[in-house]
Amino acid sequence: MKCADEKKALAVFEKALAKIKPSPKETERNFEAANHLIKKLEAVVPENVEVALAGSLAKGTDLRGKNEFDIFLLFPRHYPHHEMTMLGLYYARKAFHGMKIESRYAEHPYLQVFHGDYHADIVPAYKIGNIGEKGSSVDRSQLHTAFVNAKLDSEGKSDVRLLKQFMKNFGIYGAETRVEGFSGYLCEILIAHYGSLLGLMEAASSWHEPALDAEGKQDVKLKAKFSSPLIAIDPVDPGRNVAAVVANTSLSRFIFECRRFLANPSEKFFFSEKRKRSLAEIRKAMRGRGTACFAVRFAAPEVVQDVLWPQLKKAAQALKRKLQELDFSVFGLYHWSDGKECVILFEFDRWELPAVRKAVGPSIRFAKDVDAFVKRHSDALNLHIEHDRIVAVEKREETMVRENTFVALCRSPKGLGIPKNMEIVMKDLEAMAAEKLLSEKYREMLSDYFFAKIA
Ligand code: CTP
Ligand code: CA
Repeated sequence: MKCADEKKALAVFEKALAKIKPSPKETERNFEAANHLIKKLEAVVPENVEVALAGSLAKGTDLRGKNEFDIFLLFPRHYPHHEMTMLGLYYARKAFHGMKIESRYAEHPYLQVFHGDYHADIVPAYKIGNIGEKGSSVDRSQLHTAFVNAKLDSEGKSDVRLLKQFMKNFGIYGAETRVEGFSGYLCEILIAHYGSLLGLMEAASSWHEPALDAEGKQDVKLKAKFSSPLIAIDPVDPGRNVAAVVANTSLSRFIFECRRFLANPSEKFFFSEKRKRSLAEIRKAMRGRGTACFAVRFAAPEVVQDVLWPQLKKAAQALKRKLQELDFSVFGLYHWSDGKECVILFEFDRWELPAVRKAVGPSIRFAKDVDAFVKRHSDALNLHIEHDRIVAVEKREETMVRENTFVALCRSPKGLGIPKNMEIVMKDLEAMAAEKLLSEKYREMLSDYFFAKIA
């Protein structure tokens, strides 16, 4: 799809960019802060370990007010992996002695250091010249920095910043499991592939199961190798799909918003105001729907955020599946956490059922199966034939969703498919009518669920 008003689109980009690109002064201040930390590291590491700035600050694709950066400690390849990471953390602790530091674990251990209003990730890795030398999962980053700086000029970098802001505005920026969206590096390779933001938007508006190879060409062979809604091969590592975590919903939202922007370019696509509804408005909306809304609340398990979110989602889906097996109909489902507490919201459009249920058995052609069915349903209220099938009418165990339905399910969660960490904390869950959540703490979540509407 071509842009309806290219001139307008470019003017919008220019205006939006002025709001998100760090000023020269801010950039100077960022580099000063980064250099301050880099110097401290350089003072403690041996000569064969290189201290290098990485991430969006090093690439010139950071957004205004970001106040965070990534510093890598690059070790020669001959260090054993364990020694490299342990030494890296040791040097970082030594360099930042007396400052606030926290250990973190991604696929790989690293350290977070706080300095004034900044925080920096200090990541130990191997120094490599090409992907063939890779010895740890984070070694690619230095190649990414080099790739982006070689491929994108300042206009391209501006377009990356705009793309990040566009995605942020729709809640699809970031590879964290909470977001399941587009990472900064994915934004960079998309701009590099398509040459400009407008070019990307025009291409994306007609994406269907996009699979982009390192040259940015559509490649059908990739679909056999990777299975994710969006495939984008890492130009520095042909074995990696940079878009592996992008969820279908995030991808679809991006395509949809690109089309809308192209049809009618406006700054609102970069900065839309989310309206948080009042508690009274939410209560009215809840009641007006004629559905039954329940919430369960429990303590968050002590796991990192990137583990918490997929597990919470799985737990919510496991409960939904079970409730649907019981013939209740889940109209909507939403999960939320602030890291300390988790909430799952259920909305039912069928929550009260008659005392009986029908069990449809096999076709009478299958004599053995029919016999087994009859035996299994010997207590049935009716047993009859409908067309070619044997059918039993029996008493239903659960006829209504109540608070206790959730409590009972979570007390004996066997076979539901709730992840172990969640199973443990959910044994102590609190179940309630969703109206009990009507307080300031949950206002944004409830507002997001009951008033979600593409403006
Ligand atoms: N990285 C990656 N894939 C991810 C996350 C990170 O390859 N899913 C690598 C990239 O090389 C990236 C670096 O780790 O440049 C730092 O990650 P991050 O801070 O998440 O991204 P930035 O590019 O710095 O973007 P942002 O502006 O969001 O910080
Ligand atoms: Ca970063």
